[in-house]
Amino acid sequence: MGMKVTPWEVSGHINYEKLIKEFGTSRITKGLLEKLASYGKLNVMLRRGFFFSHRDLDLVLKDYETGKGFFLYTGRAPSGPMHLGHLLPFMITKWFQDTFKVNLYIQIPDEEKFLAKRDIRSLEETDRWVKDNILDIIAVGFDPNRTFIFQNREYAKNMYSMAVKIAKKVTFSTAKAVFGFTNETNIGMIFYPAMQIVPTFFEKKRCLIPSAIDQDPYWRIQRDIAESMGYYKTAAIHSKFFPPLSGIIGKMSSSKQEDAIYLSDSPEEVRYKIMRYAFSGGGATIKEHREKGGNTEVDVAYQWLYIIFEENDNKIAKIKEEYESGKMLTGELKNYLIEKINRFLEEHRKGKKRAEKLIDKFKHDGKLAREMWERVI
Ligand code: TYM
Repeated sequence: MGMKVTPWEVSGHINYEKLIKEFGTSRITKGLLEKLASYGKLNVMLRRGFFFSHRDLDLVLKDYETGKGFFLYTGRAPSGPMHLGHLLPFMITKWFQDTFKVNLYIQIPDEEKFLAKRDIRSLEETDRWVKDNILDIIAVGFDPNRTFIFQNREYAKNMYSMAVKIAKKVTFSTAKAVFGFTNETNIGMIFYPAMQIVPTFFEKKRCLIPSAIDQDPYWRIQRDIAESMGYYKTAAIHSKFFPPLSGIIGKMSSSKQEDAIYLSDSPEEVRYKIMRYAFSGGGATIKEHREKGGNTEVDVAYQWLYIIFEENDNKIAKIKEEYESGKMLTGELKNYLIEKINRFLEEHRKGKKRAEKLIDKFKHDGKLAREMWERVI
């Protein structure tokens, strides 16, 4: 199956090597990881190569060392409840903020999915999810005085002048080439990239954007125009896609119930979905499994543990060894994952409750938020 990776569609077997070449990004090398590790204990997603590609991360670190500094930017476009995959860029962003103590801007484009998705007929449909998604994001634990969370339709007044300046620099033919727009694309979509680029100009420092690699097309356009506008080309760090329950193809997405675990799923739902849907690399029968062992490369439960849920290197090595030798059965592996996820989600739910009280700080009253509402970009 051919692969497709755009901000709106990810499908097929993803060849990440090929993506690095096609997108013209750089691999995160061992040397770069060692450098990062000198600032703080490396996050598991960096250690295990889930974040695998970057643009100018080396320059970001240089700017940090010379005292110029940098800032962070990421985002989420609400259209439904958030799933585990959506949280990963925010978790790595928290690692960067904790490690480097820098400002962070979180964009909530509350127009994007309305424009991009044919089946969403009204803004109210997406608006329902805005607050819920913001609470999920706050639950990750950002610094309320160094973080500004803004919705495009609310903050537009402060952003619009810059969006217009950006829009004038980008031709339809560039946008078509980068995003695959056609004559049937609505004109809201054609303007929208300007809105997603504005926050990379919130400070006259280098911007570092953590996200999955599907968002990179925006940064390509930003990098074409940034210097001519007196700003830095943005830096980025890209992750692979957190795989869906159904197998290591495409990405976890909200479109199919049996593909995603939502942050709101109850312990029973988590158990049911993993037991029923998580693609197994185990043998067809216990006898076969004991003889031949399981395939960790395609086993979703193992992959999820490897990417994020088992941080302990010794433990994950032991699981791999036992599963591949047939000593550990699929049911045991799945049970282990279920416990890990349910513990994680329990903590997340507590964080989300606490977030209710913090929402105003992130959006309006925190130090950075107050500064941003007083500025026109
Ligand atoms: P959205 O809401 O589709 O996704 C939010 C973030 O989650 C990442 N993501 C995933 N990461 C790993 N595995 C997956 N299966 C997976 N699915 C989604 C996305 O890459 C994204 O980082 N246009 C954006 C919203 C946005 C934004 C930004 C994102 C506005 N400004 C700046 C990143 C940086 C969107 O629709 O994301």
